[in-house]
Amino acid sequence: MIPAMSASTFAFDDVARQGLYRAIFSRRDVRAQFRPDPVPVDVLARLLRAAHHAPSVGFMQPWSFLLIEDKAIRQQVKSLFDRANAEARAMFEDDKGAAYARLKLEGILDSPLNLCITCDPDRAGPVVIGRTHIPEMDEYSTVCAVMNLWLAARAEGLGVGWVSILDPVSLKEVLGIPARVVPVAYLCLGYVTEFLDKPELELAGWRQRLPLEDLVHGDRWGAKAPAGLAGLLGADGHQTSNS
Ligand SMILES: Cc1cc2nc3c(=O)[nH]c(=O)nc-3n(C[C@H](O)[C@H](O)[C@H](O)COP(=O)(O)O)c2cc1C
Repeated sequence: MIPAMSASTFAFDDVARQGLYRAIFSRRDVRAQFRPDPVPVDVLARLLRAAHHAPSVGFMQPWSFLLIEDKAIRQQVKSLFDRANAEARAMFEDDKGAAYARLKLEGILDSPLNLCITCDPDRAGPVVIGRTHIPEMDEYSTVCAVMNLWLAARAEGLGVGWVSILDPVSLKEVLGIPARVVPVAYLCLGYVTEFLDKPELELAGWRQRLPLEDLVHGDRWGAKAPAGLAGLLGADGHQTSNS
């Protein structure tokens, strides 16, 4: 006999579901709150395994994980950041430039471990199912691995900070990354003193979270979302606190 199925047959139980949403809503990009304590290898192995179970176009699994502990190498990456950050600051005018200068945008030396997650476009041969018309799908897949790791880290009590203000060519030289391989994400990883309730850029008055209802369209771009759904998107009803 076929067992009866309901719409929620495959749903997680309440505790597991709440755990997943808690990781999503309380995850933060961490820059200023790192503690120096090392990341235990068993925890690191769980994070890497979570990343390795990300979806990928054609199941190509284009990612590799460079674990960077060495202080001298991290110092070189920090110098790359300092150079790029000075260039970036100059792109913002007047008050914005001054506000930019006050932001802390990396934790390269404060965190005990840095990770570079890369994408190898040749991992599954020249023609990949699902990537025939949009070649960037390999890098999108790598970002899925980053996100799995980021959420798993939050569940383990570890913070992650993404550092993208780096010249990618110089970064590849410092890390000895082969020409064809793309450094998709440079991450700082470690335990934290706190997880802020809101994004640091929001707390600094740089940008606010956009109203979700303005971002959801029905059927065609610009058309309103179904009324029943739109009514539920307004209030930011999720739990954002760390508790
Ligand atoms: C692709 C990507 C690149 C990012 N690069 C940087 C960066 O270079 N420096 C930084 O401080 N934060 C960086 N961030 C973090 C964002 O600023 C942060 O995710 C955003 O402000 C929302 O905050 P939250 O992650 O705490 O929710 C990056 C995030 C993403 C997804």
